Amino acid sequence: MRIESRQILEALPELQVELRRDVSLAELTYLGIGGTTDLLRISRHESIRALLNLLDENGVAHKFLGGGSNLLVIDGELPFVVLQLAQPDPGVVLEANVASVNAAADLGSTVTFCAKNNLGGMEGLIGVPGTVGGALRMNAGAYGTQIGSYVREVKLYRAATRELETLQREQISFEYRHTSFAPDDMMLTVKLELPSKPYQEILQGIRLCNEKRRASQPLGQKSAGCIFKNPPGASAGRMIDELGLKGFSVGDARVSDRHANFFVNAGRASAADMLALIADVRERVRQIHGVTLENEVVVWNA
Ligand code: EPU
Repeated sequence: MRIESRQILEALPELQVELRRDVSLAELTYLGIGGTTDLLRISRHESIRALLNLLDENGVAHKFLGGGSNLLVIDGELPFVVLQLAQPDPGVVLEANVASVNAAADLGSTVTFCAKNNLGGMEGLIGVPGTVGGALRMNAGAYGTQIGSYVREVKLYRAATRELETLQREQISFEYRHTSFAPDDMMLTVKLELPSKPYQEILQGIRLCNEKRRASQPLGQKSAGCIFKNPPGASAGRMIDELGLKGFSVGDARVSDRHANFFVNAGRASAADMLALIADVRERVRQIHGVTLENEVVVWNA
């Protein structure tokens, strides 16, 4: 979608919003799949409401992009523009045990920065790709850690009230790969309360998680991490593996040989290939295991 409205174009400089034309979502997502649209990069949180009002008034649909690590986007010219927070500098400010983190900050760099300042707890999250905001929205987790456990406070743009709001931990529910945030809420900053630990000890934990991940996940390949959530008490990866589906493919969309819940773009996979592979594997698992797997990957198809 191209923004043609003069009203919007003329307002952007004052709002400190940068317009990038005809951006390919294939280049902004870890799967390397997705069509083109205009991208609006927001440097000032206070501009968000005015920007969204302008988009609404002009009938311009929009979606919020985090780090693009857990996302599958349809091909072709997209029927919406994409909004993204500009990368802040610095992304993290520390005060005693509390890290105030901009939602656009990279999660891995945040974990490392906190570690160097003797703040631990998030070692398990070290290899989880994407932004802190994206991790927060879905309560990302790995190796027994989930980001929600450390949240003290979140500042966000709330779609329901159209206001910037600050929520305390008790006002948010964090479950397995799920939170009480609405799909179009936009995470802005988060305060994480982290336990003090010596750097060397944190580093050991980080190294251990990195090793485990390298041994079991297809790290160098284009993927969105796990495609499905694990059903209660089971591993989707193991279930798919048990059906002999490693290497199974639709076009260039392929079930990883290393971890069966990772679907990789092995070349020039289209969104249709990937969606067909997801539907096919889900159906096979349903027929044999009697369980309907739920997507963990977020799909932008309209
Ligand atoms: N397994 C297989 N075959 C496979 C994959 C796994 O037999 O192809 C077996 C493993 O051998 C193991 C069990 O299944 O006995 C569980 O596997 P793993 O430890 O890899 O964990 P998982 O349940 O598949 C979850 C998360 C990952 C996270 C790891 C480590 C989900 C959907 N996945 O995977 O998160 O990194 O634990 O904590 O919750 C993600 O969310 O994108 C993600 C990758």
